This record gives sequence, C-alpha cells and structure tokens, in this order.
Amino acid sequence: MQSKSTLSSDKSSYIWAITTGLLSSSCCIIQLVLNLFSISCAGFSILTPYRPIFLSFTTILILYTISKYGINSKRTLVTLLISLSLSSSPEIVSLYNQGRITTSSFSSERPLTKEIEIFIVQINGISCEGCANRIKTQFDSKPFVIDSKVYFNNQSAIVSVIPGNYKSIDIETWVKMVDFKYEAKVIQQYIENKY
Ligand SMILES: *[C@@H]1O[C@H](CO)[C@@H](O)[C@H](O)[C@H]1NC(C)=O
Repeated sequence: MQSKSTLSSDKSSYIWAITTGLLSSSCCIIQLVLNLFSISCAGFSILTPYRPIFLSFTTILILYTISKYGINSKRTLVTLLISLSLSSSPEIVSLYNQGRITTSSFSSERPLTKEIEIFIVQINGISCEGCANRIKTQFDSKPFVIDSKVYFNNQSAIVSVIPGNYKSIDIETWVKMVDFKYEAKVIQQYIENKY
C-alpha cells in the first residue's frame, strides 16, 4: 500500500492550481453548470472580487508544478491546460455574451430582414458573466429575437428582434423571469435598417 501522505503531498500542487483556477472563475464555470440545471444565479459572485488573488495563487502553483515536474511532464501539461482554461473562462464567456463568439452561423438560419428593432436594456443586479449568460440564453430562446448581447461590465443588454413583435415590457418581463432580483428597464428602442 502506498503511503497516503506522500500521495497527497505529491498531488497537492497541481490539484491546488486547478482548485484556485476554478475558484477564480467560480461565478463562471460553476454557474454555467448550474445554468444547465436551471438553478438561478447563485452566490458564487461573492468570490469575484477575490479573483486577482486566486489568479496569483494559480500562477504560483503552476510555476511550482513546472519546477517540480518539469515543463514536459504530462502532469504539468494537464495542470496548465485545465487551470488556464478555468482561469480564462470569464473572459471567454464574456466574448460569447457580447456576441463576439458565435456557436453556429445564426445569420444564415435566421430570416433575412431589412429592418431590425433594437432594444437597449439596463439590467441592474447582474453579478457575473455566468449570470449574464443565463439572461442571454433567455433572450435567444425567444422566437423573434435575432441576436442578443449582454454586458456584465456596464449591466446592460442589446436585443435585436424582428420589428413589431415585442414591446419593452416583454423584454423587461423576460429578465424578471430569469431572476426576480434583476431590475430591467428598456432605455432605448429604435428601428435600424440593416442593409
Ligand atoms: C455597454 O458597453 C458596450 C461595449 O462594451 C456598449 O456597446 C454598450 O452600448 C454599453 N451599454 C450602455 C447602456 O452604455
């Protein structure tokens, strides 16, 4: 039988690198998983202000793992891969929420309209990118929504729809339906010629 203490101290540096990576992005990765189960935006956002601290720990632990196992070991590479992708997940989800990464060629599937109606919505209470993503998913699930962008940074969203289908109150209600704690207000609404 292997000694348990040797085993755990052996593992600890990369396990911790992954753990701090996960913590630094908990309101993102953990929340995205919770989103799948329709669990509303949980309290992980309290960890968001500590993100720089977790990120520094992650960096230190990665460097430690490299120095201990060498850059070429499988263990180091796996640690690097997992902890870096965890740590950078809020940025990646942010790009997705802002419509800068698309998962499919929506534009070719959606009906080509000459005009689109734009709603600019102020949404107070978004606590992280994982929660912002939940709101975007709600917008995108509506049949006449062409595109939506949710900005965690300035607590707002831009929703593009096929004109004449929705009123401001509809948009505001959708946000309330995601979570009652959100204060949504359409601050601008206009028709734009796309082509
Ligand atoms: C929020 O920021 C984005 C760019 O980051 C901008 O396009 C959008 O208009 C801003 N929203 C508001 C309400 O200022």
